[in-house]
Amino acid sequence: MPSKQVFSTQDNAVYTTSVGAPVAQPYAAQRIGSVGPLLIQDFHHIDLLAHFDRERIPERVVHAKGAGAHGYFEVTHDITDLSCASIFSKVGNKARATVRFSTVGGESGSPDTARDPRGFAIKIKTDEGNLDWVFNNTPVFFIRDPAKFPHFIHTQKRDPQTHLKDADMFWDYLSLNPESIHQVMILFSDRGHPDGYHNMHAYSGHTFKFVNKDGKFHYVQIHFLKDGGAKSLTEPEAGRLAGENPDYGIQSLFEAIEEGNYPSWTGYVQTMTAEQAEKFRYNILDLTKVWSHKEFPLRPFGKLVLNENPQNYFAEIEQAAFSPSHTVPGIEPSADPVLQSRLFSYPDTHRHRLGTNYNQLPVNAPVAPVANFQRDGAMTFVSQGARPNYQSSLVPLKYKPKAYEEVKHETWLGHANADLSFVTELDFEQPRALYQKVFSETDREHLVHNIKVHLRNAKSIEVKNRTISVWAAVDQSLGDRIAAAIGVAPVPALKVAPASEAIRFKTFA
Ligand code: HEM
Repeated sequence: MPSKQVFSTQDNAVYTTSVGAPVAQPYAAQRIGSVGPLLIQDFHHIDLLAHFDRERIPERVVHAKGAGAHGYFEVTHDITDLSCASIFSKVGNKARATVRFSTVGGESGSPDTARDPRGFAIKIKTDEGNLDWVFNNTPVFFIRDPAKFPHFIHTQKRDPQTHLKDADMFWDYLSLNPESIHQVMILFSDRGHPDGYHNMHAYSGHTFKFVNKDGKFHYVQIHFLKDGGAKSLTEPEAGRLAGENPDYGIQSLFEAIEEGNYPSWTGYVQTMTAEQAEKFRYNILDLTKVWSHKEFPLRPFGKLVLNENPQNYFAEIEQAAFSPSHTVPGIEPSADPVLQSRLFSYPDTHRHRLGTNYNQLPVNAPVAPVANFQRDGAMTFVSQGARPNYQSSLVPLKYKPKAYEEVKHETWLGHANADLSFVTELDFEQPRALYQKVFSETDREHLVHNIKVHLRNAKSIEVKNRTISVWAAVDQSLGDRIAAAIGVAPVPALKVAPASEAIRFKTFA
């Protein structure tokens, strides 16, 4: 990354202090005589220690463990009918991309093969600003009400007293919030252990909006499917690797790129019109649901290739700041409440984790020129020079008109405090289809085994029984198999409201 202005790039560079003064004896603190006290005049020593004392920044509150690389995104198919984003304006358009993969719950030293969803965050530097696609490797998520996120995350992390991961709080939360069951089923299948970071797919999960130059919009789901297919580990393999090589994912990504085996993904979009969305069986703003590929086929649009390892992990990956709110004209967030909440949360955490000027850091700085009235703040290391810090009539900034006319998108109407988490039979349809129609018998056996090795650690019989009742609501035989596996009596299925009572997607045009 460019650090040429400050740091020598020569292999045989002269050792200096942070302000460039040469140091003749780097390993010797200045002292009186050979055994006397140290001297405060020894700037080299103080400079060294003071910087060392500040080497760590807060790790990400979630997704702390990760790996990343650079490469490019290339447009392979014309989708100008869907979006007027300038990156899509021509087939063959290419932009630099940085990707960071991650696990979610563990700290920055935790094993790469942990059972956990995986983050797959993509930063594409377009000529109209940065486009961040902050995706996961699962097409659904645990919640559809963002107010649950911090509570949910707490239950998947460490107990406040024991500082241990805790199977009781893990399953207590999930069984009390059964809209999570679709994601939990994917998590406890072998897909919960991708084989390395780069052998997995990425999904927007959320519905986004693509808007074309006439202002016409489509609801979309975005997918990046790994060329050559995704690979998973079994539970015993993942467990062995967690002990033998906790950095298995970082290492296999780095080595693949060093060896020239560049991982690549094909980008696809599923599209839905507003009229189709109103008729669709599921609420398109419900992050626990997928769109059938048969009804809404995948349309290819691009390619993502990672062909460059970072030179410096901290500067180029740890300091990367991805946010769903970093978007460009022609790609808009939908009203999915979890997505809306994320639009706030990421820049907020970046200001805390990296500082207010996090977008000046080379890995985050857009290639599109920036001109605005933001000034100063800690660590302002590039400036807008003498340009006025308000809209001056003498030296005004120009305003670029919107790429499309203001058109009527959705019009919303409703009561405050809708219970977004209200669970109905509809919430069990997709996981049931996954279990009964998509999984093979081996997949089902692995699912039961994977749940068993975790759920048996819960101490509370109430939590165990409630958890089994949720699995039984997917399929009674699945509940019974789990009960037998952990040695408890069968439990009847959780009773929920009929599908007809589910919140439907409805706008008032
Ligand atoms: C990381 C919040 C849901 C994908 C993070 C971070 C926060 C956060 C605070 C740390 C960011 C940083 O320090 O730079 C939330 C909230 C959510 C939510 C409040 C829901 C209300 C989701 C969902 C997805 C997702 C649904 C995927 C569809 C990611 C990824 C990262 C991340 C990939 C890691 C980014 C990186 O590598 O720097 N999230 N998250 N999150 N989140 Fe979320």
